[in-house]
Amino acid sequence: MILCDKGLFTLHTKNTTYQMKANSYGVLLHTYYGPRVSGCDLSYRIQYTDRSFAPNPDEDGGSRLFSLDAMPQEYSTCGVGDYRLPSLELELPCGSRSADLRYKSFRLEPGKYALEGLPAFRGPEGETLVVVLEDAAAQVDVELWYGVLEDYDIITRAVKIINRGGKTVKIRQAASLCLDFQRGDLDLITFDGKHVLERCPNRAPLVPGTRSVGSVRGTSSHQHNPFVILCEHDAGEDHGLCFAACLLYSGNFEAAVERAQFEDTRLVMGVHPYHFCWPLAPGESFTAPEAALCCSKEGFSTLSHRLHRCIRERLIQNPWAGQPQRVLINNWEATMFDFDAERLIKIAESAAPMGIGLFVMDDGWFGARDTDTAGLGDWTVNGRKLPGGLEALVPRIKALGMDFGIWIEPEMVNEDSELYREHPDWALHIPGRSKVRGRQQLVLDFSRKDVRDRVYGDLKKVLSSADISYVKWDMNRSLATAWSAALPAERQGEVYHRYVLGVYDMLEQMRRDFPSVLIEGCSGGGGRFDAGMLYYTPQIWCSDNTDAIDRLRIQYGTSFCYPVGTMGAHVSAVPNAQTGRSVPIETRGLVAMSGTFGYEMDLGQTTEEEKEIIRRQISFFKEHCKLIQEGDYYRLSDPFQNGPYTAWQQVSPDKREALVSIVTGTAHGAPPFLNLRLKGLDPALCYHVNDEGSYPGDVLMEAGWPLPMPWDDYQSAQLYLSAV
Ligand code: DGJ
Repeated sequence: MILCDKGLFTLHTKNTTYQMKANSYGVLLHTYYGPRVSGCDLSYRIQYTDRSFAPNPDEDGGSRLFSLDAMPQEYSTCGVGDYRLPSLELELPCGSRSADLRYKSFRLEPGKYALEGLPAFRGPEGETLVVVLEDAAAQVDVELWYGVLEDYDIITRAVKIINRGGKTVKIRQAASLCLDFQRGDLDLITFDGKHVLERCPNRAPLVPGTRSVGSVRGTSSHQHNPFVILCEHDAGEDHGLCFAACLLYSGNFEAAVERAQFEDTRLVMGVHPYHFCWPLAPGESFTAPEAALCCSKEGFSTLSHRLHRCIRERLIQNPWAGQPQRVLINNWEATMFDFDAERLIKIAESAAPMGIGLFVMDDGWFGARDTDTAGLGDWTVNGRKLPGGLEALVPRIKALGMDFGIWIEPEMVNEDSELYREHPDWALHIPGRSKVRGRQQLVLDFSRKDVRDRVYGDLKKVLSSADISYVKWDMNRSLATAWSAALPAERQGEVYHRYVLGVYDMLEQMRRDFPSVLIEGCSGGGGRFDAGMLYYTPQIWCSDNTDAIDRLRIQYGTSFCYPVGTMGAHVSAVPNAQTGRSVPIETRGLVAMSGTFGYEMDLGQTTEEEKEIIRRQISFFKEHCKLIQEGDYYRLSDPFQNGPYTAWQQVSPDKREALVSIVTGTAHGAPPFLNLRLKGLDPALCYHVNDEGSYPGDVLMEAGWPLPMPWDDYQSAQLYLSAV
């Protein structure tokens, strides 16, 4: 619900309230975000006091009581007296770098807004408020867009900057959100890591100064995720006030938090200002990507439930939704580049009788691709490996009762490729500098439409040549030497952002042309696992690390924002290719099925006993897929604590079903007796627990369930609960 009253704007969701107010000088102040309160004017909490070294704008008229630096701002500026983190920085024709905003007007629009060319939570349900601010000297309007998804407890934001003047103004920074708190006693949680160990939570109390995470790699990155949580020091899974901010963007980003001098806190999140400069000619506009906010006073579980439901129902669009879940098999870890049609068919033949419904052919099927030094850019089938092309291979896979999927990496080119020999200037490259390769490849200039058109044209032919129902869109290096031969010197600051817009544009085109194809995102695993990509690719390969024990950590961290059904997760062979660890097949299956679930190994190489276990895993997953992927997700333990076990739980929305998954750590003699307290059950219902009797929900939650005694490392157990 949106209430507008003489410059006071109150946004209510079911359980939260957000408020801002234009004060008598026209400065839009942030008055509140938190648990739902009645919609009175909360600006009474903002005190007008003389603060030394806090300059006063002209309107203050000499009272010295009003300073931008001492008040919570709705969208912070720079160069005019607020010294905290800026949200907007404009370079005016005179060369000054500043921004100064005053309230101009507002409008309400029906439904939740969409953003052209950018991902956004979907309407039409929801409401939109647009508050228009004006920088009079710059002759620039700044529209703050708010989407209220009331039932989901999510508020979205986006910002549109419009040049109303007669001269070009340069945007040096345009954040998607600014959120001020009148308190400094908060913890910041960021989700950080590296290739093969992504999104590990790091929590620390704020100290005076700024902490910032982000990416300047051209993608959202393995190293930091565009999702952060701010919370009270004692907040945990089930209690405490916490706030989440999530950016729907897949390129360079920054999430910066400043604890400032008056025990106030500011969070600013948006496109990273590094190498960003967007000249805005008269009449032109620029839209900063969407960010989403969520708040819970009941801790992280509720925060995650709200985000998960909104992402599932209002962000992702899975063309397979509503159809029976297809478990997939992917040949990558089994073969790498070394395969031909017969090898693939063999893998498919051993998978089909297990109940696997989708065969995915990974990297190596095109051009002269036998190693990672050649072929990228040449999207034509390698006839030596696949004689007769996809037209011959796909019907053979289909005849086994499986659908067919294919791997692509559209954004890349090898120097050893026909495409590069034809168009060496299509790769990002700074004139005069030597080349910078990553995995032996260069990055195509996706800011250019002609480049995208050529690549997409080639891919479209491939995708139209056979019955293909799944595409894995990979991206295997970070950007460097980001210079575009198609832009003049003064517009090179657009390249990184235009690159991301180009990726979105091609994804949109592919979804339009092939509406029944499921696209899975991937960037060397989870290097571009963000809400922006999820808008186009409803699932993303979570990590190149398929070791089940490392996956416990990766999937745990990922689960704070992203639902189980978005996390690509496969069972692979042991010893694991990343860690050398051997984990029992039962445990590998249990961990992968808290994801999209698939296998990435040659099932023909497994023993009869393993085959039987795999068959059971697949049929269990198919039976309980809805509960696993759409149930409320509870983290029952923190795998980073190195405790004796890791456990998590899914509970169906009606609380009549639940699944508990438990994985033990390394075994020790005389293990302790431990009881695992379950969560989210209906205390008044009685539940069957596997075939081991019936127990009341309150008992299972308060007294718990005895953990199995581990007899070796990395054992696992599943408890399936159904209401009697
Ligand atoms: C990186 C991906 O994450 C892997 O799953 C695989 O597709 C390789 N690329 C192929 O090159």
